[in-house]
Amino acid sequence: MALEPQAFLKTLENRIEFSAENKALLQANADWGKEIALEMAEHFYTYLGRDTEMNGILTATEGRAHRLRETFVEWFHEMFTGMDDWGKVYADRRWRIGLVHVQIGIGPQHVVPAMAAVVQAAGNRLKADGKDEALREALSRVCMIDLAFIEQAYVEVSSAAVLRETGWTAGLFRRLIATGASTLSI
Ligand code: HEM
Repeated sequence: MALEPQAFLKTLENRIEFSAENKALLQANADWGKEIALEMAEHFYTYLGRDTEMNGILTATEGRAHRLRETFVEWFHEMFTGMDDWGKVYADRRWRIGLVHVQIGIGPQHVVPAMAAVVQAAGNRLKADGKDEALREALSRVCMIDLAFIEQAYVEVSSAAVLRETGWTAGLFRRLIATGASTLSI
């Protein structure tokens, strides 16, 4: 795969100005993040369950919904700890999460609003617990980094599959996409 997770993480950090202060604030609130993670998981899966298509995916295999609750709780807490201070372990983990969703066929239309639901639920809880606005900002930024990983995995996997099947170069593929886009009526 062409994407290098650690370099991608650095690019995103710079792009959205995920600062050392943001990281320190999240880490200082890691216990609080752990405390509310299960409640956030409940909000998240209630949200997914309301949609027929996503609910179908969630209940497609035995034990999936239960497993997901556990992995979501871990994922949520990791946004506060940064695992290895947002290093290789964090980047590889986020990349893997992206790949898992591509394999299951979960696309941008599912993931973007789902992340918005997480940001919203966490924001409500932040307010209820009297947490600082700066924590909301830090958490929103790291959520956007994680979202970008899942979305980018979708693009990388689809393009890599086309290039592999067709033998096209990446340059040709980009030109075909640009030409295709210009022929669509907008
Ligand atoms: C905010 C966006 C999302 C986050 C942060 C998230 C988080 C996660 C995590 C951490 C895993 C475990 C990955 C692993 O096994 O390494 C996972 C797997 C999975 N997610 Fe998501 N997810 C998101 C969106 C969605 C959406 C929209 C759906 C749609 C139904 C979904 C369905 C699934 C399924 C089916 C699995 C695999 C479960 C299994 O069989 O083990 N996720 N997700």
